[in-house]
Amino acid sequence: MASFMMMACTASAQDATITLHPDQANAFIPKEIYGQFSEHLGRCIYGGIWVGKNSPIPNIEGYRKDVFEALKDLEVPVMRWPGGCFADEYHWMDGIGPLEERPGLVNSNWGGTNEDNSFGTHEFLNLCELLGCDAYISGNVGSGTVEEMQEWVEYMTSDGGGSLAQLRRKNGREKPWKVKYFGVGNECWGCGGQMEVDYYANLYRRYNQFVHNYSGNQMKRIASGGISNDYNWSDVLMRKVGDRMDGFSLHYYAVDNWDHKGSATQFDNNDYYHILNLSLNVEQCIKDQIAIMDKYDPEKKVGLYVDEWGTWFDVEPGCNPGWLFQQNTMRDAIVASTSLDIFHRYTDRIRMANVAQVVNVLQAMILTNEHNPSDPCVLTPTYYVYKMYKPHMDATLIPGELSCAKVETGGKYNIPEVSFTASRDSQGVMHLSISNIDAEKEHTVAVNLGSDKVKTVAGEILASKHIQDYNDFGKEIIRPAIFKGAKVKNGQLLVTLPAHSVVTLEVK
Ligand code: AHR
Repeated sequence: MASFMMMACTASAQDATITLHPDQANAFIPKEIYGQFSEHLGRCIYGGIWVGKNSPIPNIEGYRKDVFEALKDLEVPVMRWPGGCFADEYHWMDGIGPLEERPGLVNSNWGGTNEDNSFGTHEFLNLCELLGCDAYISGNVGSGTVEEMQEWVEYMTSDGGGSLAQLRRKNGREKPWKVKYFGVGNECWGCGGQMEVDYYANLYRRYNQFVHNYSGNQMKRIASGGISNDYNWSDVLMRKVGDRMDGFSLHYYAVDNWDHKGSATQFDNNDYYHILNLSLNVEQCIKDQIAIMDKYDPEKKVGLYVDEWGTWFDVEPGCNPGWLFQQNTMRDAIVASTSLDIFHRYTDRIRMANVAQVVNVLQAMILTNEHNPSDPCVLTPTYYVYKMYKPHMDATLIPGELSCAKVETGGKYNIPEVSFTASRDSQGVMHLSISNIDAEKEHTVAVNLGSDKVKTVAGEILASKHIQDYNDFGKEIIRPAIFKGAKVKNGQLLVTLPAHSVVTLEVK
């Protein structure tokens, strides 16, 4: 665990204290914690990222312009594709070559939707290049052959004279792309093949054997984790093939009842704390996974990749249930900020996290209008948390202690009022993000900056009157604003946060 301690919170104290230790800062926050996930699911790809070159909707080479620009602004470090469950039914050869010759497919995992394969390997990897992010390809172990996987890797990354590289050249791409991450299976216990762990461990050995590194491309291989609390899966896999992987995948969604997930927008304080409690429980899951990984890999060579995480509610009324389209409120923003705060504390093991998903699916960054596709896209509160947290990417974590009360839930949940991350960027500037988790009350947080002396403090706040508020098409009511609630008194920083809000400060 990174050097961070959360002190026992006292029930009586109204306000919080954060004591930072800038002189002990040594844990690095990899930017890949801010990864994205794009699946062929609902309108994530078609109508979200991709509208096609001939669309009346403004686009850059077929990528929806407003979505592209919003992602560019976010400085996305890594994007995972094509699934998820979709990956284990995806046959990459159908998504290359002239558009008119590409066969269609039925997306049987997600609503039985017909897709035309116009977004394939070239379109995804070119997008990564345009965005300046690393590509994370999820291979098909569930229904694909070893040969198909091996050929895909060769097609994408070989600069040699083999037939696959030749085919890529024929399809218009002379030089290979860089593909940094490759998932050898996704949720192989479920949609990825309904396997038992011993069987998957053997399959992993076999498929992985043919994921070659061509032409200087060095691929990090990620094995499928079990269902989030299946620790036997983690134990067996680490024991049997831990020496053959770079990453072990963990999926964590803030859901406990899959038949009644609840509405994304219609909820009360109790529902809010219920979801927050579930999402904060990722920390225990991470600790448990790390304990198993430490047993077989004490040198921490294998990374824990939280390559799917986020909220998962019932779809919006009237939407295709298989498309997983949900709105995104200030509750999602608090889930995002507090989850990132947790990931930051375990970066000795967590090397990547990919929020699910980037556009129009689950806890999305961006929404586009199904009924009026020409409407400008909407940036969600989760998007803005990512934007406000950008200074923590590739920064050094400043450890600290938090002393605070628990939110009032009648003893039902054990949720602190406050969460935070402090880091120092490469220029030596400290950034401090604080979330007030309390649904009802403002809180003042006293921050002891240790050896750092504060001269100026400036920052932004993401807040809204109601925790249920969200940004809708033509009605963006939540966006970062200049924060005026921080002051310096006797060398101490005092930050007053309204209920359910997130602040990022630059402390100089
Ligand atoms: O993100 C939606 C789905 O959740 C993914 O396809 C799958 O991997 C997970 O179960």
